[in-house]
This record gives sequence, structure tokens and C-alpha cells, in this order.
Amino acid sequence: MAEGRPPQTAVEAVLVKSQSMPETSETVRGYDFNDGVDYHRLFRSYARTGFQATNVGKAIEEINRMIDCKMQPVPRDMQTEVNLNPCGRQKNNCTIFLSFTASLVSAGTRETIRYLVEHNMVDCLVTSAGGIEEDLIKCLAPTYLGDFSLSGRELRSKGINRTGNLLVPNNNYRLFEDWLTPLLDIMLQEQREQGVTWTPSKVIARLGKEISNADSVYYWAYKNNIPVFCPALTDGSVGDIMFFHSYKNPGLVVDIVEDLRRVNSQATCAVNTGMIILGGGVCKHHTCNANLMRNGADFSVFVNTASEFDGSDSGARPDEAISWGKIKSAATPVKVYGEASVIFPILVGETFARRQAEFKSFSHAD
Ligand SMILES: NC(=O)c1ccc[n+]([C@@H]2O[C@H](COP(=O)([O-])OP(=O)(O)OC[C@H]3O[C@@H](n4cnc5c(N)ncnc54)[C@H](O)[C@@H]3O)[C@@H](O)[C@H]2O)c1
Repeated sequence: MAEGRPPQTAVEAVLVKSQSMPETSETVRGYDFNDGVDYHRLFRSYARTGFQATNVGKAIEEINRMIDCKMQPVPRDMQTEVNLNPCGRQKNNCTIFLSFTASLVSAGTRETIRYLVEHNMVDCLVTSAGGIEEDLIKCLAPTYLGDFSLSGRELRSKGINRTGNLLVPNNNYRLFEDWLTPLLDIMLQEQREQGVTWTPSKVIARLGKEISNADSVYYWAYKNNIPVFCPALTDGSVGDIMFFHSYKNPGLVVDIVEDLRRVNSQATCAVNTGMIILGGGVCKHHTCNANLMRNGADFSVFVNTASEFDGSDSGARPDEAISWGKIKSAATPVKVYGEASVIFPILVGETFARRQAEFKSFSHAD
């Protein structure tokens, strides 16, 4: 071996000759704070920053594509005189499903969701029981900030419940029971005397009407005729109250099969669909499964903390949903790995909220 020269094998191994990069390749470049503190430009720089910042950037682009599609007129051959949507919601060119887990309504993400519903920017909500009741309960009494490390034993002795670093006194649930129980009596009476067939979405619309509070997601969903689906409506405080009510005044029937027709119809009656799914579990799969009925959603954004290695649907990437026909093969879906209370307000701020004036003129054009 010649002195002063490294082994040729090592040189070739370490510096394998590069092929040139395709001309369309993006280069990595982050935000430069010498340009001042400008959050819009900061978030626009995410697409070229790498890692989850790039996925946030892609999610912003995907949601803006959903909105562009929504603003287009419904093709003439898809317009019908009769509204075939069983929920009576008027057709537009892109039906946007917004799905979220319960804890996001316990958190202040509720206000971001309420903004979208108040301004009629999304067409269909899907959540779990806590996602319904936590919104209504907040109209009766507040949720407090606490700490992840507070002792469960001590909190239990004080009648205070913990969701992550949020605290909800048991008294809030008592107020909720006092509010809900007489409404269940009335619903049961309407079932008996008027033949009303209750489903979770009809119950939620009625609760939104009765809460009559502009802070509530479901008040605005009722006002704007945005259907809300919650197939497991009984898995929370609503279910506890229905359980006790079934002893005091038995007979209320809530039909999940009729709601299955209604949620699937949101996909089958649509011209195009978009899915924005925050978290996993039932809210994620119920939305994806409805979109299977139309051979897949056209636009999709998943935001969650779950991984796919355990085979969970919560962690499944959009590509797995393509294999099932829940997202169209030609679509450009995005998954952001992250906590939605941080990510979702950024997504909304860079898409729906920046385009509020467009939504206003869009709704007036109807
Ligand atoms: N406040 C509450 O959380 C609450 C209250 C009452 C009842 N419940 C009931 O608990 C059951 C389970 O709740 P769930 O189905 O709403 O979901 P979940 O809380 O079980 O979450 C499902 C998955 O979504 C992902 N996820 C959850 N929160 C996230 C976040 N902030 N950011 C990103 N990803 C997130 C995680 O991968 C998680 O495993 C439901 O039946 C619900 O009604 C919950």
C-alpha cells in the first residue's frame, strides 16, 4: 500500500459516484428569522424544511386543493332537481368530512372545529361520544387546565377527572345530566306519539338546537345543517345518562343502521370528497369506510400520533386505505405524524381561515 494514499476500496465505498438529481428536485431550506417574524411565511417554508414540517406543508396544499375543488360549480350532469342527500344538505363540488377524537373537543381544538362549522366550511362531522358531550358540557361549565402528572388517587378523592393535562370536575357531568335527562324524556315522548325514529345524528342535531349557544360546535352544525355522525354515541357520559334514564323512563330507541345509510350517503351523493381526519379509532375508520362506498376519497389528510407497526387502523398510512378502496389510487393523500392540538390550528390558519372571504361569496352564490 503506497504511503499517504487511502485504500482505493475505501475511497470507492465512501464516495460512490452520484447520479445527477432530477431537475425538478426541491432543495431543503428553512425559514430565516432575519426576514422578521412572519408566521404565514414561516408555515409556507415548512414544505421545504423536511421531516414533519414538510408533511404539514403538503397537508396545507392538499386541503387547499379540497377547497379549490369545493369552489367549482357542480357539473351539470350531476345536478338533480331532487336532493338525494337524506340529510337534506345542499350538494357542492367537494363534500369535506372532518373527523376528530373526543379529547380534541376537551381541548381548545374545539374552537377551531367550531369556527369551521360556524362558517359552513365543512360538510360532515364524525366523532366519538366524548367529542359530542364535551362540547355541550363546556356550555354548562368550563374545563380547566391541569397537569399530566396530577395524581389520579388524589383527583378521585376530590371528584375531579383528568383528560391528559385537562381537568373536568364531576359537577360538570351532574349539570349535563340535569340538562340531558328531561330532553331524553321529550325524545321518548316524540318517539311514542309522533313515531320519530331517533338515530345518533338526529339526537346530536336536537341537542345542538337545544343548547342554543354560539360557542357550541353542534349548535352551528344544527344551524348550518351539517350532519354529525357518532356510531358509538353511548360510549361516554351520554351513555351513562341514557343507562340511568332507561331505568327511570325506559323505551328510547336510537337506530345506528339508519345513520349508516345517512353517513354512507354523504359519500355516495357527493361529486368529490375530501377527508380531514384528526386522530384514529372510530372517527377515522367510519369516515374512510363511508368513502369506500364511492371507491375512495379524492383528497385526504390524516393527522395522528399512531404508527402502523402494530397493524392498527389508527396508525395505518393513507397507502393502506388506498389498498381497501377508501382513498382513490390517483389521489395525493398526506399523513402528518403529530399531535393535532398543535398541528390543526396551523392547517386551518393556512387554508380555510385565509380563504374565509371566498367561502362567504361561495355560500351567497348558492
Ligand atoms: N375526552 C375524552 O377523551 C373522552 C371523553 C368521554 C368518552 N371518551 C370515549 O373514549 C373512547 C375513545 O376515544 P376516541 O375514539 O375519541 O379516541 P382515542 O382517544 O382512543 O384516540 C384514538 C387514537 O387517535 C390518536 N390520537 C388521539 N388524540 C390525538 C391527538 N391529540 N393528536 C393526534 N393523534 C391523536 C392516537 O393514535 C389514539 O390512539 C370513545 O368512545 C370516546 O367517546 C373519551
